[in-house]
Amino acid sequence: ASTLGAAAAQSGRYFGTAIAGSRLNDSTYTTIAGREFNMITAENEMKPDATEPNRGQFSFSAGDQIYNWATQRGLKVRGHTLAWHSQQPGWMQSLSGSTLRQAMIDHINGVMAHYKGKLAAWDVVNEAFNEDGSRRNSNLQGTGNDWIEVAFRTARAADPSVKLCYNDYNIENWSYGKTQGVYNMIRDFKSRGVPIDCVGLQTHFTGGSSLPGNFSTTLQSFAALGVDVALTEVDVTNASTSQYAGLTQACMNVPRCIGITVWGVRDSDSWRSGESPLLFDGSGNKKAAYTSVLNAL
Ligand code: XIL
Repeated sequence: ASTLGAAAAQSGRYFGTAIAGSRLNDSTYTTIAGREFNMITAENEMKPDATEPNRGQFSFSAGDQIYNWATQRGLKVRGHTLAWHSQQPGWMQSLSGSTLRQAMIDHINGVMAHYKGKLAAWDVVNEAFNEDGSRRNSNLQGTGNDWIEVAFRTARAADPSVKLCYNDYNIENWSYGKTQGVYNMIRDFKSRGVPIDCVGLQTHFTGGSSLPGNFSTTLQSFAALGVDVALTEVDVTNASTSQYAGLTQACMNVPRCIGITVWGVRDSDSWRSGESPLLFDGSGNKKAAYTSVLNAL
């Protein structure tokens, strides 16, 4: 196959990218994105600050612009994200307790109703753990330890057809506190029937040329709990070809690793643009890492 999306599709997987709405009028950008990828994540446009700028007043124009761009080209869309400590609208940042709990539930219901039946997956909860595997302190965590399961139960009821994911970074190394913390939560959810379908490993790699320890073991271990796994926000310092090949191979080795998404198209589009972490350079040329990924798919 001659594109990332087509190569991934040979094994039933997808290859995706994050799209920024502000770049949809850049034809170099849209040409690459529409050619190479078959799964799209809105980089910011479906986050709580974008979708509910005022309490109870939803705004889907920016998210819909990306959704429409993708689906007009036959590309699928992952929803990102419904409950997160970051990129909350101002009104939500100042809430706490039962008021915030209800606002979270209302937010999930409002956004999921709009996209009901349209998305491949939702990152229901994003980045809820500390590096040591304990829960991250946030206004959401302050509403009670059960906020994550409430979010997932609300999400399942709001749209039974969409896959519900927990998404986080630094959960790639199996011998790491945060990985174990998330793993234990997923195991607990599965044992108690809390609805969850997938774990997203953001896969923001920083430095080095080797993969985080036992990355394949992590993917296999999550999958063995009965969830799909996906690499959801991949970028790699200086686009190390060995790390890009390795993370692709790690996904290919695990049947329940359903796809890979890189967090942007060209280096110049990246939130880490100073580290040149993506598969296309600022001019839109394929980098060596592109070839290493394509060959590993
Ligand atoms: C980042 C975006 O890329 C930036 O444009 C924005 O300013 C901040 O958020 N983890 C996530 C993503 O789940 O939503 C973040 O995206 C990167 C880290």
